[in-house]
Amino acid sequence: MRFIASGWLTCASRSRFHAYAILFLMTARILDGIKIRDEIFAELKGEVAQMTAQGIRPGLAAVLVGENAASQLYVKSKIAACEQLGLASWLHSPPANVSTEYMLRLVADLNNDDKVDGILVQLPLPSQVDSKRVLEAVSPAKDVDGFHPVSMGMLVSNRPGLVACTPAGCMEILRRNNINIEGANAVVLGRSDIVGKPMALLLLHANATVTICHSKSRDLHEIIRRAEILVAAIGRAGFVQPDWIKAGAAVIDVGTNKVTDAAEANRLLGNFPQRLEKFRAKGNVLIGDVHPDAVNTAGALTPVPGGVGPMTITMLMSNTVKAAKLRRLSGRFQPASVAR
Ligand code: GUN
Repeated sequence: MRFIASGWLTCASRSRFHAYAILFLMTARILDGIKIRDEIFAELKGEVAQMTAQGIRPGLAAVLVGENAASQLYVKSKIAACEQLGLASWLHSPPANVSTEYMLRLVADLNNDDKVDGILVQLPLPSQVDSKRVLEAVSPAKDVDGFHPVSMGMLVSNRPGLVACTPAGCMEILRRNNINIEGANAVVLGRSDIVGKPMALLLLHANATVTICHSKSRDLHEIIRRAEILVAAIGRAGFVQPDWIKAGAAVIDVGTNKVTDAAEANRLLGNFPQRLEKFRAKGNVLIGDVHPDAVNTAGALTPVPGGVGPMTITMLMSNTVKAAKLRRLSGRFQPASVAR
């Protein structure tokens, strides 16, 4: 909180002044995902070097089907992160017309390859491929995306396993910024298998009082207003309005929505002329699920971009190292009966 020196004001006008000063000058602490990524990368780099020296070099196999430009970019970043940290990596790029059977054989080969600790099947897969069958074919011991039903089950029962990267990254942001979770009212907006559900479980295991709400919830803004921690993962640009946020709340914005419509950009970025300028030059802008003006009501807020985004790849790297440790070092996590 920043105050302006107000010694020259009368007592009454001073308190009024303070109220305005608080309203206008209190901006949220920015929860910087890039800084946390760099911290975790530094930690992982040391661990990977140590494991490699012991003859166990963690490795990630990525499967990228077809020519989807966004997927190509994501996978390129994931392979680059492996190289940066000293992890082994392999890229498999079947053509867009690949069959489910081919994908199942490829996943089986990767399951059986002892050098491969993590398997990442980049989504979306083409429509002729049965995505669920392919994802469920990944050995849970190598499921670094945390999408397998066994991984979800391990999370439900709070046992060690591989947790979906985005919610795991949100927890790192909260913890590394010393945001109190225990006993807090946490609201998760969104109920996807990949973010909302695992996020709610992680907060619950950290002793928060958790409410999950979604687009069909009645009185959504009333529910959100009770949140001391809000995780917004509903996939709609600027959906959460600034006045829905409890003063001082910690807000984790998972949304990355590409806005291309000028009227929408004007509506969302009216108070951010520099960002609006960039939108006009580029023709698009990334907006979270929380209205950018929430920076004036939240106590702490992840920016978009630069908040949750960098944490997804970070936790993929972390999961790959964790998978290598669990499978090759401790031998504790070997659900052989479900490994295919
Ligand atoms: N496509 C977009 N995000 C992801 C992700 O986190 N994992 C996978 N496997 N595919 C994605």
